[in-house]
Amino acid sequence: MLQTAINAAIEAGRYLRESRGKSLTIEHKSSSIDPVTEVDKEAEKIIVDIIKKHYPDHTILGEEGGTKDTESEYRWIIDPLDGTVNFTHGFPIYCVSIGVEYMDTLVAGVVYDPNLDELYTAERGKGAFLNGNPIRVSETDSLIQSILITGFPYDIHDNPDNTVERFVDFLMNAQAIRRLGSAAIDLCYIAAGRGDGFWEAFIQPWDIAAGILLIEEAGGKVTDFEGNPIGADSPRVLATNGKIHDAMLEILRKRL
Ligand code: IPD
Ligand code: CA
Ligand code: CA
Repeated sequence: MLQTAINAAIEAGRYLRESRGKSLTIEHKSSSIDPVTEVDKEAEKIIVDIIKKHYPDHTILGEEGGTKDTESEYRWIIDPLDGTVNFTHGFPIYCVSIGVEYMDTLVAGVVYDPNLDELYTAERGKGAFLNGNPIRVSETDSLIQSILITGFPYDIHDNPDNTVERFVDFLMNAQAIRRLGSAAIDLCYIAAGRGDGFWEAFIQPWDIAAGILLIEEAGGKVTDFEGNPIGADSPRVLATNGKIHDAMLEILRKRL
């Protein structure tokens, strides 16, 4: 399954790379700042076709509707283009993300960044890798020395839910905050030790399925904002190197 996920992610990533700079038809989904293009849809089709060919009985959850419900104990969770806003502006931070669950537990995860040609892979119990080399979370143990990463939901204009307040809380307590525009890449950067902690609310399963496993396999910790263990269906995610987890939880608990 890991190899199938890798093949699908690379194939779709190649298509994203070829579609760079092409004129796009942009539609909007949940709000006027939530775009989708024909490239998102075609990339999902590429992935779903590959999965169906190898695992015709497995359940598939794809962001762009490529969903197939079965009785299977396996579920593939796909974001064919994570970072669509970036993509539509030619801002080169976006990726393909594919996670696989067996009986509700994440067992494989692949994220492919076609711009940097970076392939992140993980299988439960077997470690996390970047282009085949093992990766580990960072050793940073204080918030004030940490780079944090976050993202904002598409309904932020109508449903702010303390998103900005939490951002300010962290800004005042960390070394720096980054907003990359692709939650799957954000999580990979925590797994690879490039950042120390990530939080986001109103997140979707396809944004985090692969990334959660990558962080766990790279030695990090993933919970909700109250410290409870989570899977791909959690709308709130806190993912860290483990060492700054409690410090981040303390700040998040102020605005539950
Ligand atoms: C979005 C990105 C963004 C995050 C949003 C996601 P999309 O995914 O991951 O970084 O802040 O919550 O919806 O729409 O580009 O696939
Ligand atoms: Ca996404
Ligand atoms: Ca997407």
